[in-house]
Amino acid sequence: MIIDQVGVVGGGLMGTGIARVCALAGADVVVCEADSGRAEAARVRTESSLRRAVSAGKITGADCAEALSRLRYTAILEELGDRELVIEAVVEDEPVKVELFAALDKTVSAPTAVLASNTSSIAITKLAAATTQPQRVVGLHFFNPVPALRLVELVPTLHTEASTIDRIERFASEDLQKIVIRSQDRAGFVVNALLTPYLLSAVRMLEAGFASAADIDQGMVEGCAHPLGPLSLADFVGLDILLAASNSMYEEFKDAQFAPPPLLLRMVESGLLGEKTGRGFFTYSR
Ligand code: NAI
Repeated sequence: MIIDQVGVVGGGLMGTGIARVCALAGADVVVCEADSGRAEAARVRTESSLRRAVSAGKITGADCAEALSRLRYTAILEELGDRELVIEAVVEDEPVKVELFAALDKTVSAPTAVLASNTSSIAITKLAAATTQPQRVVGLHFFNPVPALRLVELVPTLHTEASTIDRIERFASEDLQKIVIRSQDRAGFVVNALLTPYLLSAVRMLEAGFASAADIDQGMVEGCAHPLGPLSLADFVGLDILLAASNSMYEEFKDAQFAPPPLLLRMVESGLLGEKTGRGFFTYSR
C-alpha cells in the first residue's frame, strides 16, 4: 500500500465512513474521538456499518473480520503519534480544528507524515498555518456516504509539497480506489461551489411561487435524469449545512449567487432542517 498506518480524528458520520473505507483497503486505522464514551460510540457505529455491508452482500464476512481487526479506537491523541497519515473529520468549527492541527503538529512525529482535513468549508491554509510544517498539510474531502460515493477532492495549499500531493493522490486512488479531483483552496472546492448555487436557485424558485416543491424536484429528476431533485437533496444534506456552506462561499466570493434566500434562513431558524428533523421542503417519517 502507499500508506498503511492511518489515523482518523473524529468518529462521527464522516470519520467512521473514512475509517471503514481505509480499513477495508488494508490499512491499520486508529480512530481518535473526544472522549472514551464517544470512542466507544464510534466503534459501535463502524462495526454495525460493516456488518450491514455484509448483510447487503457488498463485502464478504472475511473482509469484514479483517477490517475489524485493523481498527482501533482511542480518546488519546498521542496514540496517533506513529501514523503516516492523519485525516481530521471533527466538527465543522474553525477554532476546534485550528487547535487540533496545532496538537497534531506536535504529536505526529514522522517528518513525512501527512495531516489532512475533511473540512467542507474551512480554508485548508488556515489549518496549515496552525502547524510548524504547512508543507505536509492538505485537504482531502470525502463525500457522504463515504463507502458509496467514489469522489474525493484533493486540496493542496500554496505551501503543500508536491511529494505530499502525489502521495495522497496515489493513496486515495490506488489504496482506497477513489476518484480524485484536485481543487484550489477556495470555499466550496469544486463540487459544493457548483452545487450550492443550484440548490439555492431551487429554493428561490419555490420562494417566488414559480413552481411547487414537488414539481421543481420532479422536473430535474425526470427532465435531467438526476437521482434526486434539488429540494430533496437540500433536505438530505441538511438545511443548516446548506446555509453554512452558502454563507462561507458568499463571504469568500461576495457573489449574490451564494447569498442564502430568506426562506432558507427562516426554515433553519424554525428548526426545519430536512430529513434529520423530519421536515424540510418535504416531510419524512423518522
Ligand atoms: P459529526 O458531527 O457526525 O462528527 C464529528 C465528530 O467529531 C463527533 O463525533 C465529535 O465527537 C468529534 N469531535 C469533536 N471534537 C473532537 C476532538 N477535538 N477530537 C476528536 N473528536 C472530536 O460530523 P460529520 O458530518 O462527520 O462532519 C465531520 C467533518 O466532515 C466536518 O468538517 C464536515 O464539514 C466534513 N464533511 C461532512 C460531510 C457530511 O455530509 N456530513 C461531507 C463532507 C465533509
